[in-house]
Amino acid sequence: MRNTTPVIIVGASSPEEALIRHQLTGVAEVIGSEPDPTRALPRLREVRGSIALLFLDRARESVLSIVKELSRIPGSSPIVVSRDRSSQTILTAMRAGARDFAYLDEKDRDIRRAILNLKEFAQANDLPEGKMIAVFAAKGGSGATTIATNLGGTIIAEAPKARVVIVDLDLQMGDVLVFLDVTSRYGFFDVIRNMHRLDQDLLHQSLATHSSGLQVLAQAMLDDSEDLKGEDLVTVLSFLKRHYDYVILDGLRDFSELALLAMDKSEHIALTMTPDVPALKNAYRCLTVFKQLGYAPEKIKVLLNRFQKQGLDLHSVEDALGRKIDGVVSNDFPTIIGVINRGELLSASAPRARVTRDINSLLPLLSIDIGLSTQRQRRGLLRRLVQ
Ligand SMILES: Nc1ncnc2c1ncn2[C@@H]1O[C@H](COP(=O)(O)OP(=O)(O)OP(=O)(O)O)[C@@H](O)[C@H]1O
Ligand SMILES: [Mg+2]
Repeated sequence: MRNTTPVIIVGASSPEEALIRHQLTGVAEVIGSEPDPTRALPRLREVRGSIALLFLDRARESVLSIVKELSRIPGSSPIVVSRDRSSQTILTAMRAGARDFAYLDEKDRDIRRAILNLKEFAQANDLPEGKMIAVFAAKGGSGATTIATNLGGTIIAEAPKARVVIVDLDLQMGDVLVFLDVTSRYGFFDVIRNMHRLDQDLLHQSLATHSSGLQVLAQAMLDDSEDLKGEDLVTVLSFLKRHYDYVILDGLRDFSELALLAMDKSEHIALTMTPDVPALKNAYRCLTVFKQLGYAPEKIKVLLNRFQKQGLDLHSVEDALGRKIDGVVSNDFPTIIGVINRGELLSASAPRARVTRDINSLLPLLSIDIGLSTQRQRRGLLRRLVQ
């Protein structure tokens, strides 16, 4: 990216403007200035892709109203500048819709930092979105959570830099946190409430993190009686896709509006079933509904979990379903229950077990290409504002 980001300075006196220009040497190019904030808006609207540095202290109210206006224009980047760095001032700027706050002073080159962060953010935003996989249990106890968590573990084992989050959509009875033996005081509704100021760093710090690096977003507080709205779910999932390489959804087991929204947004649906008649019946029903919903056949992958010689054989299952089974995970209760009870992951604790290799081999099936999109290193923009 070029290092001459166009900047327009608004509301600063000549000495302040000179100081800002000096501090920006080499990182941005000041293409204009307007000391009177009330006259700045047409110019700012006109020059797209520029960064507006708005000096707050002289005409606070008009500057804040410009920030508000600009924050509604997609791609605009108002940065509020002030000689006062009290949390009250930072918060006021943030609430008005500033992308960042920079403290102006002779020694501290905070404006430089703000510009560099914004540039990095723009670069990071060019990254493709992460992949989302919905693990859907054809029947309770078919191993959805086991597969979702260990799929995440396998990705991290193969690509330690990958950012992977498991989202537990069973807000009441979800057990992803228990499976991974992590606790979280930051749940779904916290993310929704704080989304306007969450960035990569803050999100990463806030979510529960397993020792493997795997992160979890769940709703840990059972007494949180808020209802999750469809639009909020979609916003959270889009947000996660921007910040993670892989988003794995667990806790889906019905065709509620929320479940459908989540599945619509997923690249793949991994339908987990066990080799027994009740699971088979349910899996058949699920496949029929997926078809009615218009999901492309390649989107759905059927995973036969707990496969063993004694149960239904593969051909009978495929015959009954009228389609092929995409992935098979063998039955290994002692290994699985051991890792679950210790809050561990198969990839770390039983890397050579057959069941681990089975889960590993699901990656290409779910279009998980470990070599791609694992460099989602982003710097926080508004991080300082909420410290
Ligand atoms: N491949 C496997 N071999 C042996 N046991 C397994 C296997 N996969 C899962 N299990 C066992 O099956 C049980 C249920 O697994 P899990 O909780 O992952 O299923 P689920 O579909 O998420 O269930 P729920 O309906 O409670 O969400 C667990 O006790 C787990 O140990
Ligand atoms: Mg489960």
